[in-house]
Amino acid sequence: MDIAGRPSQEIYDVVGIGFGPSNMSLAIALEEHGASSPQHPIRSHFFERQPRFGWHRNMLLPSTTMQISFLKDLVTFRNPVSRYSFISFLHASDRLVQFVNNQDFYPTRLEFHQYLEWAAAGLTERVTYGAEVTSIRPLTEAGAEAPGLLEIEVRDADGTTSAVTARNVAISTGLVPRLPEGMTAGERVWHSSEFLGRFNAQDPSELRSVAVVGAGQSAAEITRFLYDSLPHAEVSAVIPSYGYSVADDTPFANQVFDPNAVDEYYFGTERARDSFWRYHRNTNYSVVDGDVIRALYQRSYDEQVRGTRRLHFRNLTRVSEIAHTEDATRMVLHSVLDDHTEELAVDALVFATGYDGLDPARLLGGFDQNFLRDATGRHRVTRDYRLVTASDLTCDVYLQGGTEHTHGLTSALLSNIAVRSGEIADSIVLRRTERELGRGGLVEAARSAA
Ligand code: FDA
Ligand code: NAP
Repeated sequence: MDIAGRPSQEIYDVVGIGFGPSNMSLAIALEEHGASSPQHPIRSHFFERQPRFGWHRNMLLPSTTMQISFLKDLVTFRNPVSRYSFISFLHASDRLVQFVNNQDFYPTRLEFHQYLEWAAAGLTERVTYGAEVTSIRPLTEAGAEAPGLLEIEVRDADGTTSAVTARNVAISTGLVPRLPEGMTAGERVWHSSEFLGRFNAQDPSELRSVAVVGAGQSAAEITRFLYDSLPHAEVSAVIPSYGYSVADDTPFANQVFDPNAVDEYYFGTERARDSFWRYHRNTNYSVVDGDVIRALYQRSYDEQVRGTRRLHFRNLTRVSEIAHTEDATRMVLHSVLDDHTEELAVDALVFATGYDGLDPARLLGGFDQNFLRDATGRHRVTRDYRLVTASDLTCDVYLQGGTEHTHGLTSALLSNIAVRSGEIADSIVLRRTERELGRGGLVEAARSAA
C-alpha cells in the first residue's frame, strides 16, 4: 500500500488502528516527540474505516453537551502548550473571547466535534481514511529468532486488501454497540449509535408512535429529541429503573477520572478496584446529566398542566421480545413493578442499551493465543497499556480502550486520553531504544539521544 506517497515496504514503529480521539491524541504525542527529537522520529501511520473523520456523528443531537471539561482535550493534560489544544482551536476560529464570555466548561458536542475535525485536518498525512484493518499477524524478520514485526491487513473502501508492516500496533477501535440478547436491528429498529442517520432517512409524518429503550445518557437525549422533533407522535420511554438517575459529576467523585486514579486502580488491591466500581459506576453508566433529566421532567409536567399526554414513561420495565410486522414493530414489555407483560406496537424503536468494550481478540484472531489472560479470562495488560505475552515476541500490541479491568473507569472515556497517549508514546520510544541497545545498536541509539 502506498500511504501518503511513502513506499509500501516501509516498516513503521507503530500503526494505529482507528482514528478516533484516542489515536488522534497518540498521533499528536508522537508528532510532538518527533519535533523534539527530529533526528530519530517515530514512524507512524493510522488507519480509519470511516471515509472521513467523525466522532459519534449519529448522536450529534442539538443542544447536547460534553460530559468533560474542554480542558480535557486531546493534549492539554500532557502538554498545555500544544498547538492542538481546544484553546488553540477557539483562537483559530476567532471565538476565544466569546467562549470565555459564555462561562461554560462544557461545550456542545457539536463544537467539540468541530474541534476534533480541526485537529484531524492538521494530521491528514498520518492517516488513511476509508481503510478498515481486518487482521494483525506476527512476522519474523530474516535472521531474528522471534517475531518482531506485525503484518496489518487493511481493506480499502472498494474492497481491495493490502498489508503494511509495523513493530507495534495501537488498537483503538472504540465501543461496540450492544442490543439486548436475542434482539436484532432492522429498518425501523435502531441502536442509538446509528440514530441520526436512520432518523433523517425517515418521513417524520410516518412516525406516529416511537419508543426508546434504556435509562442512560443516550436514551434520555434521544427521548427528548424525538419528543421535540415529532410533535404529533406518542413517545414511550422504556426504562429499567424507576426513573432516570443522575450522573455524579461532583468534584470528589470526579477524581476517579484523574490521571493519578489510573495508578491507584492499576496497583490497587482487588478490593480497591471493586470499590471503584461499586461506589463510582454512577459517574458514567446508566446515568443521565441533571439538565437532561430536568428538561424531560419539565415536558412531562407541562403535559399534566395542559391535560394532554403523549410522553409515556414505562418504569421498571424491560423489553423481553420484539417482532417485526409489515407496518410496525411489536415489543413485548415486562414490568417488574407488577410482573405484568404487555405488547406495544411502534413505528420506530431505538435501543439505547449501551455498548460493549473494545475486545482486541476480534482483530488478533489466532495471534491472540500469544497473550495472557487473568483467572476470569480478561487480557492481562501492563501499566503502559501493552498486552502481556509469555512468548518471546519483541513487538507490542498497545490498547487504547478495553482496559477498564486493569486501568479503571477512564479506559473508554476522553478524560485521560492526553496523558494515556503520552504514556504510550513514551513507552514506544523507550522500548525502541531498548531494542536497539539489545541488538548492539548502542552507538546508533547514543547518537539519537544526543
Ligand atoms: P472512538 O469510538 O471515538 O473511535 C474509534 C475509531 O476506530 C472510530 O472512528 C471507528 O470508525 C474506528 N475503527 C473501528 N474499527 C476499525 C477498524 N477495524 N479499522 C479501522 N478503523 C476502525 N466520553 C467522555 O469522556 N466525554 C464525553 O462527553 C463523551 N461523550 C460520548 C458521547 C457518545 C454519544 C458516546 C457513544 C460516547 C461518549 N463518550 C464520552 C465515550 C467515548 O468512548 C469517547 O468519547 C471516545 O469516543 C473514545 O475515543 P476512542 O478514539 O477510544 O474511540
Ligand atoms: P449506558 O449508560 O450503558 O446505558 C444503557 C441503558 O440501557 C441502561 O439504562 C441499561 O439498563 C439499559 N438496558 C439494557 N438492556 C435493556 C433492556 N433489555 N430493556 C431496557 N433497558 C435496557 O449506555 P449509553 O447511554 O449509550 O452511554 C454510553 C456512554 O456514552 C457513556 O459513557 C455515556 O456517558 C456516553 N454518552 C455521552 C453523551 C454526551 O456526551 N452528551 C451522550 C450519550 C452517551 P441497566 O443499567 O439495567 O442494564
